[in-house]
Amino acid sequence: MPAANLYDLLRESHERQRSLCRQLLRSKPGTRDRLDLLTALRIELSAHEAAEERYLYVPMLMDDSGLDASRHALHEHHEIDELVADVRKLDPRGEPWLEKARELSKKVHHHLREEEKKFFQVSGKILSDTAKRRNAAGYQRDYARMVRKLSDE
Ligand SMILES: [Fe+2]
Ligand SMILES: [Fe+2]
Repeated sequence: MPAANLYDLLRESHERQRSLCRQLLRSKPGTRDRLDLLTALRIELSAHEAAEERYLYVPMLMDDSGLDASRHALHEHHEIDELVADVRKLDPRGEPWLEKARELSKKVHHHLREEEKKFFQVSGKILSDTAKRRNAAGYQRDYARMVRKLSDE
C-alpha cells in the first residue's frame, strides 16, 4: 500500500469536520444526539489541530516564509477551541446554543478554506518531499493517538 499523502490526510479530517458541523447544526435541541455530535466534533477538532500543529505548522514556523501563515493558523486553532468551550457551557436546548454553534461552524469553515487555499501551498514550498512523507506518518500516528486519548477522557 502506498504511503498516505500528508495533504490527503489533512483534507480527510477537514471533510469529517465539515460533516460534523453540518450534522450538529441540524440536530434537535436538547437531544443526546446533539451532545454526542458536539463530543465527536470536539475530539476531531482537537486531535487534528494537535497533530497538524506538530507535523505541518512547526516546520513552517522554522522557515521565515512560513511564519505569517503558521502564526495565523495557530491563532485560529485557539479561537476554535474557545468557541467549542463556549458552546459546551450553554444549554443545548436553547437558541443561544445554536447561535454559538453556528459561529463555531463558520469559524471552522473559514479556517479549513484558508488552509486548503493558502497555507497548504505555502507549506508545500517549505517542506521537502522527504519531510512530507515523514510528517504524513507522524501526523497519522499522532492524530490516532490523540483521538484515543480524548475518547478515553
Ligand atoms: Fe487543518
Ligand atoms: Fe488547522
